[in-house]
Amino acid sequence: MQHLAQHTFSATPQTVRAARDFTMQTLDSWGGCLRRDDIRTCVSELAGNAVQHGSPESRDYLLRLIRHPHCLHIEVHDGGGHSPVRIPPASLSAEAGRGMRIVQELCDDWGVQALTGTGKAVWTCFHRPEAHTSRCSCTP
Ligand SMILES: Nc1ncnc2c1ncn2[C@@H]1O[C@H](COP(=O)(O)OP(=O)(O)OP(=O)(O)O)[C@@H](O)[C@H]1O
Ligand SMILES: [Mg+2]
Repeated sequence: MQHLAQHTFSATPQTVRAARDFTMQTLDSWGGCLRRDDIRTCVSELAGNAVQHGSPESRDYLLRLIRHPHCLHIEVHDGGGHSPVRIPPASLSAEAGRGMRIVQELCDDWGVQALTGTGKAVWTCFHRPEAHTSRCSCTP
């Protein structure tokens, strides 16, 4: 069975917490999840990026959670153009540029997809979020 939950947030830093809370409440309503800390961190980073980098006009962003039988798919849609979402080279002295590296380490897959019209979706996928598995041993 597939579940879908989505919510639109204003592109302000204050809504990142609301995006996290929405995600946790949704996962609870779907029966819980053992990878919730990793998922919460990824939602934080993606929502923060939508606010900070997503759209110069500070438009809204959309958080979508899709629960497939064997994975949780998370999308954050923003109205921004196609500036690349990338993982900057690691640097001990950099004050930023760690968010997507953290996302990459915690999730099983991620990517960026152009939306019809304007904007893009940055997505992550968690295999078997109900199981206590490390990334490498996941079997979708
Ligand atoms: N939603 C987005 N829209 C446009 N560019 C993005 C988006 N998300 C990330 N990026 C680009 O990818 C880069 C890397 O993102 P990342 O989250 O790793 O770093 P950061 O947001 O700059 O810093 P930090 O997350 O450590 O505070 C960003 O600096 C930005 O150029
Ligand atoms: Mg970031």
